[in-house]
Amino acid sequence: MKFFSSRHDRITLSASNAATARVRELRAAGRDIIGLAIGQPDFETPPHVKQAVAAALARNETRYPPIDGVPELKAAARLKFQRENGLAYRTDQIMVGTGSKQILYNTVMATVDAGDEVIIPAPYWISYLDMALVADGRPVAVACRPEDGFKLTPQALDSAITPRTKWLILNSPCNPTGAVYSRAELKGLAEVLLAHPQVWVMSDDIYEHLTLDGNEFATIAQVEPRLYERTLTINGVSKAYAMTGFRLGYAGGPQPLIRGLVKMQSQSTAGVCSISQWAAVEALTGPQEFLKDRAASFQARRDRVLELLGEVPGLSAHKPEGAFYLFVHCGGLIGRRTPQGAVLATEEDVVMYLLEGGVAVVVGAAYGMSPYFRMSIATDMATLEEACRRMRASVAALQ
Ligand SMILES: Cc1ncc(COP(=O)(O)O)c(C=O)c1O
Repeated sequence: MKFFSSRHDRITLSASNAATARVRELRAAGRDIIGLAIGQPDFETPPHVKQAVAAALARNETRYPPIDGVPELKAAARLKFQRENGLAYRTDQIMVGTGSKQILYNTVMATVDAGDEVIIPAPYWISYLDMALVADGRPVAVACRPEDGFKLTPQALDSAITPRTKWLILNSPCNPTGAVYSRAELKGLAEVLLAHPQVWVMSDDIYEHLTLDGNEFATIAQVEPRLYERTLTINGVSKAYAMTGFRLGYAGGPQPLIRGLVKMQSQSTAGVCSISQWAAVEALTGPQEFLKDRAASFQARRDRVLELLGEVPGLSAHKPEGAFYLFVHCGGLIGRRTPQGAVLATEEDVVMYLLEGGVAVVVGAAYGMSPYFRMSIATDMATLEEACRRMRASVAALQ
């Protein structure tokens, strides 16, 4: 009997986590590597959130919290959905998880049976595919063309739906492409979904506050209220508030689904770290003005990196409308020869070669589209400029 389950064997270690681990190893070995693999803002967790952490500890908020979240956080999430998204949820329609990642995972585990299909527009965030696979589901990746802004079109959605389709996962702003769906684009997708009542929507809104160029954020249950009864709207504090380590996400959706998610969570991690919950109460109810400044800072970095990459022949980056990544086409480097005489035959070779030159990025295949790589721009301008300089030097050394 083999030890690891077929479930375990079906999935892979998250590529961005693996790349980040490799960066740590190389640095420990004394190499100077700029890590642009992981998606986490370089900003500080806001001081008022840190104070809320200290206050929660002082109050001894250190016991097992309720599985679905402390009432104060559920109330804060309810108000947030109302205030920012025009979505009215009762508190029993809201739950808190260990990162939005756990909520996505619980959702798939609670609802996907063997052979059920999950539509995932590609390029996609790495984990959606593996989550569907863990649950014995069938991920259906739908390629979204660069000329469509890497966005799912109503036609492509319609062709992907079958009687076995259970979920569509939408992620706007998108990791890795930065695509932001407008209201009209969401409405177009909603029209298709209205004709297929068996299909539910997971709306992963984790990059909500990171829209650039004045692009307006919208979420599908808000744009099409007739989908409210089959949409799970997922968000969290990681990206907006620079709180990735707190591991805190929350979601609003139909009560029976939320009850199912809470049941799944009750038999795995149970309630989320109590201190993180109090930190999130402060993040959601405290000052919000700084979010705009942070988005503006990402926009300035994006513009500068696009300018610098534009000077590197063989690389071309799509202009992201949100989030903090560039998805860079590297097909122009494939077939070129390194100074050591090796041919760059695949995007993986390109990424390894750039790593040798001191910059860590993640292969596009991990996001469902090649030949590309994803680079995070969630680091300071000087480091980004140095990373671009290194990439340019690496590329210039190719024959
Ligand atoms: C698209 C997307 N969804 C969800 C997550 C998970 O975020 P968290 O679990 O920190 O809330 C990430 C993190 O990288 C992401 O990029």
